[in-house]
Amino acid sequence: MAQHSIVELICRKRDGAELSPDELAWVIKSFTSGEIEKYQMSSLLMAIVFRGMTDGELGAWTEAMLHSGEVVDLSDVALPKIDKHSTGGVGDKVSIPLAPIVAACGVAVPMMSGRGLGHTGGTLDKLESIPGFFTNIPPEDFAKRLLEHQLVLAGQTETLVPADKAIYALRDASGTVPSIPLIASSIMSKKLAEDLDGLVLDVKVGSGAFMKTVDEATRLAETMAAIGRSHGTATVAHLTAMDQPLGTRIGNTLEIEESIEILRGGGPSDMIEITRTLAVEMLLLAGVARDADAAISRVRHVVNTGQALDKFRDVVAAQGGDPAIVDGTRHLAAAPHKHTLHARSDGYVSRCDALSIGMAVVRLGGGRVKANDVIDPTVGVVLAAKVGDAVTGGDELATIHYSTAEALASALPLLERAWSISPDPIEVPPLLISRIGR
Ligand code: URA
Repeated sequence: MAQHSIVELICRKRDGAELSPDELAWVIKSFTSGEIEKYQMSSLLMAIVFRGMTDGELGAWTEAMLHSGEVVDLSDVALPKIDKHSTGGVGDKVSIPLAPIVAACGVAVPMMSGRGLGHTGGTLDKLESIPGFFTNIPPEDFAKRLLEHQLVLAGQTETLVPADKAIYALRDASGTVPSIPLIASSIMSKKLAEDLDGLVLDVKVGSGAFMKTVDEATRLAETMAAIGRSHGTATVAHLTAMDQPLGTRIGNTLEIEESIEILRGGGPSDMIEITRTLAVEMLLLAGVARDADAAISRVRHVVNTGQALDKFRDVVAAQGGDPAIVDGTRHLAAAPHKHTLHARSDGYVSRCDALSIGMAVVRLGGGRVKANDVIDPTVGVVLAAKVGDAVTGGDELATIHYSTAEALASALPLLERAWSISPDPIEVPPLLISRIGR
């Protein structure tokens, strides 16, 4: 790799030139080794925010990021290896029932998830509300666990894609997060370092998502699918609605309870629809079902026969958790207090705002304001009325599960503004917006 001048590269990018794969690989390597200063990298990132990246630049940048540290080696796992990633939303616990369903269908699922970010919940935080459950799986154990259980539910390790960790911290502190190429390369470098055969992306769009419009979400989905394709990893993305929370339970332990309901064949219809749609995509990418109908039958079979729930119980036990939680013979800790929110008029729910509800759960203590905050897994909100539902004044809209009066007082104003009620019937907007990829 040739030596380059970072100042010259910043100026060329600032002026709209295309940087070569060698130059971009040098930037990532030199930044990771400390040769490029943080202020120089921030400046280059800002030039990327304004100028964007060509497909060639994005492919080279992502490949360099993914090789900035260790990559997972799953070559001993003969089964097709498929993962799923969601760009994040409120009440989005889909990964928790989805992963065991797909693993029970004969696919290896090396799922690496994140923690809550802002008002959105994180799969790791939800899983860790099961007593004893650990998610820090060392890379050398990953393949062994996957061979044994076909499923690993893990967190990002320190050694995987260290460039993203360092770049993300800079982006957070330099106003350079909202850039489609930077978001896409950040997500895809971590996913492609998992040695996958296929990836299904759930790109959320709406008030509770990071992408607020279908246009933005489509560009992000297309960009991530193109990175997957250029790396040789089949990638399919679904754009799904996140104007209202997914399911009815928001908050860490509450979301584990809803996930178990889904694995038992019940649960809210929107959760069932997204879980089933993404499971079908994963089975098709894995080549274990010949078409969508066969994939749906397979998914129904593993849920109805209890095989998906057995798989979840198996992995909970293998990762230190209490399997009695999965069987329902022991219950997760509950918040000490409840408060009910009532409809103020008759009509139809026209808005149940995901952003306000997600922010309220953070204020209850269910998410973090600062990176080291300790979360309270028991708190959250259980929805009784969602968009389209008919309500009469005085009906329950939601129950708030809370630990302290101060936290409730802080969350209530957000929740009181989260619902709108219209005198006219409301058509529920579609949950599945579009599909992008292979
Ligand atoms: N999630 C990531 O991993 N990276 C981003 O840049 C944004 C969301």
